[in-house]
Amino acid sequence: MNVNKIRLIHFRNFGDVSLDFHSSLNIFIGNNAQGKTNIIESIYTLLRGSSYRTKDDDNLISWQEKESYLLGEVQKDNKECFQINILLQNIEPQGHLSPKTKKIIKANKKYQKKSWLLQRFKPVVFTPEDLQIVKSSPTVRRKFLDEVIINLNPIYDQYLKDYNRILFQRNILLKNEKNSNNLIKQLSIWNEKIIELGTLIILYRIKTLQLLNQKVKDLHQMMTENKETLKLKYNSNVLTSFTEDKEEIRRILAQKIHSAQERDFRLKVTTIGPHRDDYFIINNKIDLGIYGSQGQQRTAVLALKMAELEILKEKENEYPPLLLDDVTSELDLERRRFLMQLITEKPLQTFITSINLDDLTQVKSIKDMKVFRVRNGIVEGNEQ
Ligand SMILES: Nc1ncnc2c1ncn2[C@@H]1O[C@H](COP(=O)(O)OP(=O)(O)O)[C@@H](O)[C@H]1O
Ligand SMILES: [Mg+2]
Repeated sequence: MNVNKIRLIHFRNFGDVSLDFHSSLNIFIGNNAQGKTNIIESIYTLLRGSSYRTKDDDNLISWQEKESYLLGEVQKDNKECFQINILLQNIEPQGHLSPKTKKIIKANKKYQKKSWLLQRFKPVVFTPEDLQIVKSSPTVRRKFLDEVIINLNPIYDQYLKDYNRILFQRNILLKNEKNSNNLIKQLSIWNEKIIELGTLIILYRIKTLQLLNQKVKDLHQMMTENKETLKLKYNSNVLTSFTEDKEEIRRILAQKIHSAQERDFRLKVTTIGPHRDDYFIINNKIDLGIYGSQGQQRTAVLALKMAELEILKEKENEYPPLLLDDVTSELDLERRRFLMQLITEKPLQTFITSINLDDLTQVKSIKDMKVFRVRNGIVEGNEQ
């Protein structure tokens, strides 16, 4: 899949900029605060209907302006081509209402919902904040895994939402119901649903961790010259040993929920279930989150993202675009070389930012690419 071109009007620090992209490698070079990340963000927003950096569309509109346009052409490998237009518009506040940003999405001149984009375009993006997948809390790791699963199985999004809604209700009940007979009676209804949805969520997570593991090991070994081995290990408060047997998972979850009931009463919160899931990211038997160097952590997240890319490719029969923001800092020459080799040998469109062109090209002579120089919202591009 390719993003052929994009036009940004009043998006972040851009006035009106049109860019024609290379079908393989696109490199954005510039000093800090010139607009490199904003370009990556604009491509992502064109494909997904919202940014990965902010929930608030208003932030995307240039200061001083009331509206912003993104216009782009996206082509699938089967040659099917889409003209995507996104308009973001600030609506003046009326009365006591706070200001709002309206969003209009069109594909080939037809109005579409954001879900239309989400189903079709699944770019993989790496940003410096993704380091948190290794370093930070289980919540961040779950979010990464869940997003991979949703991209592969859209129905999972619904399971997750339903589970979280029921979990919320169950916790409210635990907090508010003082009569223990009533509590037990009412909990049994919620328990059934928690068990049903929880089983599905655990099963999807186990299967997807398996899929990621199958890909990540080789990719990571390539990036570390076979010196390091990366593995994801499911860390669940439900399962203590590995199984993909749905009935077995259901049985164990049901049993644990029931035996945790006393504790749940006392703590007034649901203590067992996939909402407490985590996974270890293990490199040569050590937990990277605790003992890894910055470079090792970055390499691990990159390998994870590349694994996600491979899984999506298998599902969709084409590579989604790969967006790499500031990926090379903290990677030594060797790791940069392997990364560049990895992305240039695949039939894949990549967008990558860097302060220094040499950081990317010195490591490998690359013929098929386009370099864009970004300075204060102005972009100059040339084919190499
Ligand atoms: N809505 C906006 N309107 C105008 N400028 C913005 C807006 N949002 C961010 N900027 C500016 O865009 C500039 C470039 O940001 P960024 O793309 O993150 O730089 P970098 O090249 O370091 O990746 C920053 O100076 C920031 O102040
Ligand atoms: Mg940046």
